[in-house]
Amino acid sequence: MEITLGFDVYGTLIDTHGIIAVLEKFAGDKAAAFSRTWRDKQLEYSFRRGLMQNYENFAVCTGNAFDYTAALMNVRFSQSGKDEVIAAYRTLPAFDDVVEGLERARQSGCRMFAFSNGSADAVETLLKSAGIREYFIGVVSTDEMKSFKPNPGVYSHFLRRAGALGADAWLVSSNPFDVIGAVSAGMRAAWIRRTPDALFDPWGIAPTITVSSLLDLSRQVSEACRRT
Ligand code: 2OP
Repeated sequence: MEITLGFDVYGTLIDTHGIIAVLEKFAGDKAAAFSRTWRDKQLEYSFRRGLMQNYENFAVCTGNAFDYTAALMNVRFSQSGKDEVIAAYRTLPAFDDVVEGLERARQSGCRMFAFSNGSADAVETLLKSAGIREYFIGVVSTDEMKSFKPNPGVYSHFLRRAGALGADAWLVSSNPFDVIGAVSAGMRAAWIRRTPDALFDPWGIAPTITVSSLLDLSRQVSEACRRT
């Protein structure tokens, strides 16, 4: 049986808080808090747009969340300052374990896709600038469904696009809401818990496996597949 892995992008492969160094120029010691609020609002806006069925792409959620966070935290940006930060968001860095983890998964024969709320263009740019595009057969964006995670339809869409069945297809994500969404929609899911203080939502829906880094992902996925 071939194993298909759908890698979440923002927060799993790509470190959204890699923007902090750029934010420091404008927000000083509020930069880390700015980055957290910006990310939380970006996701909240995607959830709300999905529920409202009032779709705009993920870059719009990101831009609106940026404006909200700047107003909330009273950080002023000139137009060129905002353009600089938004441009940096398009080339955020990968986490340290990503290249080696993807290499190990490729060597173990996994079929790998990127699967994101981000538009295909935005994800292609991110993966290329982080030097990891070559690991993926393709990019699947929820934009193709005009909706966002965790709408169950976007996980079904992933399976159709990847040509896989739920039992053989894994979502790989650091985002608990994404893991719960995938399991609830019939996929398996690996939760990447890079720090021990990361919490999982207590909903009674558990990840299929939890791993502390992408380095150990393909080994643990293969073992889980052998067990069941
Ligand atoms: C992604 O889909 C959820 O932001 C996350 O890339």
